Amino acid sequence: MAIEKTFSILKPDAVRRNLTGAINDRFEKAGLRIVAQKRIQMTEVQAQKFYEVHKERPFYGDLVKFMTSGPVVVQVLMGEDAIAKNRKVMGATNPANADEGTIRKDFAESIEANSVHGSDSAENAAIEIAYFFAGKEIVE
Ligand code: CMP
Repeated sequence: MAIEKTFSILKPDAVRRNLTGAINDRFEKAGLRIVAQKRIQMTEVQAQKFYEVHKERPFYGDLVKFMTSGPVVVQVLMGEDAIAKNRKVMGATNPANADEGTIRKDFAESIEANSVHGSDSAENAAIEIAYFFAGKEIVE
């Protein structure tokens, strides 16, 4: 297995409920290392571009509104098999379908307010990391 980097967002519902530490603890206990992290207020344009692949989906407008409804924490997580590992720790997109002990099962409020985002492939991880972080902000 390779050492990988993946991109993660602690979404507005998690930040609003002061769950950033509790969620980071899940990542670290799973062997993921936070090698970059910052708290930001996403702009409408930033959120629209980030979620551009979902532009035609009926939930796109609400998703952009939600992601700009308050601060988020954007992160780069690093570790062995980090992309798949992060997705396993997060659980299914819809918390109703998420496995016991996953972040979304334990913390998510709904399919929209599902507490975390994680890249779904190595290609998207590279694109998403570069969208929010300069190379020098990532300290391994
Ligand atoms: P995320 O991994 O950030 O990628 C797209 C997001 O759209 C997803 O998590 C969900 O929070 C959100 N979303 C809202 N409604 C839906 C839906 N019906 N199907 C899939 N994703 C949805």
